[in-house]
Amino acid sequence: MWALSLVPARYSAMSMGYVDLGGGPGELAPHTHGAGYGEAPLVEVTDLTEGSSRAPDVSVTLTAARGAIRLGDGDAIDGYTLNGGTPGPEIRARVGDLVEVTLVNTDIDAGITLHWHGIDVPNAADGVAGITQDALAPGESQVYRFVAKDAGTYWYHSHQVAHEQVRRGLLGAIVIEPAAAEAGAPVDVVALAHLYGAAHTINGAEGDLHVDIPAGASARVRIINTDNGALFAWLGSGSFRVLAVDGHDLNGPSDVSDAEVRVPAGGRVDLLIARPADGSSVRLHLGGPRGVVIGPADPEPVRAPTGQVDLLSYGEPAPAPFDATAPDRRFDYVIGRRWGFLDGRPGAWWTINGHLYPDVPMFTVEEGDVVMMRLANHSGQAHPMHLHGHHALVLSRDGVPSTGSPWWVDSLEVLDGEEYEIAFVADNPGIWMDHCHNLPHAQEGLVAHLAYANVTTPFLLGGDAKNEPE
Ligand code: C2O
Ligand code: CU
Repeated sequence: MWALSLVPARYSAMSMGYVDLGGGPGELAPHTHGAGYGEAPLVEVTDLTEGSSRAPDVSVTLTAARGAIRLGDGDAIDGYTLNGGTPGPEIRARVGDLVEVTLVNTDIDAGITLHWHGIDVPNAADGVAGITQDALAPGESQVYRFVAKDAGTYWYHSHQVAHEQVRRGLLGAIVIEPAAAEAGAPVDVVALAHLYGAAHTINGAEGDLHVDIPAGASARVRIINTDNGALFAWLGSGSFRVLAVDGHDLNGPSDVSDAEVRVPAGGRVDLLIARPADGSSVRLHLGGPRGVVIGPADPEPVRAPTGQVDLLSYGEPAPAPFDATAPDRRFDYVIGRRWGFLDGRPGAWWTINGHLYPDVPMFTVEEGDVVMMRLANHSGQAHPMHLHGHHALVLSRDGVPSTGSPWWVDSLEVLDGEEYEIAFVADNPGIWMDHCHNLPHAQEGLVAHLAYANVTTPFLLGGDAKNEPE
């Protein structure tokens, strides 16, 4: 068992684990060429690009380097910066813009990448070391190109040794705004929460983020949880509306006055918060006393309410853009935990459908499939599950159908004992990670992939570039 658990020093994700066809036809592309695969020609992930040679509308260079991160009077943390700071610059684009980001590695020996968390980019731009690219060694650079399709709140982070590099600073916010500025839109505020060492920060600073807007005006606060555990947000007074989850607007959101809202690890929640007409200020708590203060005063922190917004029933229903009642494929993603060996190390490791990494399912689809996935968790801990390249619609939780607004997710927290059914359309060919965003859990093997049947990758896990996406 010990010998069988050893992960080779270089191997292709295409040979990882076993193929799971979810009851549909086909087979997975081989990782060597010329094997006479089916009818469809093989496509490499590197071919799955934005495609045009169009000039970028938004062009950013991000230079990554080792550096000390100093917060307040605390000790400096040994970390990483992007353009000299962390988080990296906030990137803003409009729907339809071509975004081009050049990532440069100055001196980070382990290599780096950037992944566009929640943005359904073409696979070649997904930034996963060993799957869609090699990690960039010091002195190397890479250009990521994609068209901003869906307005919303997203973030970017390294996907090389992610459990370490994200924690130490290789991350930032990216916001896609609607194609045209809306008259009377609320004031737009990003609140990116990140834990550096022991310092809880918002947009890289300890303490409250102050947003001074006129009495009676409103703010759209884009909460981004870049940590490994869930973040809870609540208001000190008044009410908020949940405008969006994971970059997708909710339909018919109502006022919430006595409940907190959960932001899973990796997830985003946009809240609409009004500053009262009487000129008082409002405190939005993010996980504790710190938060975002709307208005000039400094309202006292209050305790979290006991209620929680349940997105399964929040907002108004609307028709789904696809029929999830007769899916082409059904997959189980059942998370458990058992004793065994992970790469030779004994321990109680996460399992997927009873298997230990890397003997995990390759969820295999064909373009156009409607896919239903059952995410169940019997592992004793919560897991914020993140599927790359797609947004899934939540259908039910513990057998109770969704009755609120369509609830689209890319980062869905599945608590211990819970079971969700989600569905999505396989409309973005590639090889896509589907993993826990409590990043140490991913590093402990809570990782599988969604693969399109005719797509293969020339990159290797391990190998000369030392690709280690988790
Ligand atoms: Cu935010 Cu696979 O990652
Ligand atoms: Cu987990």
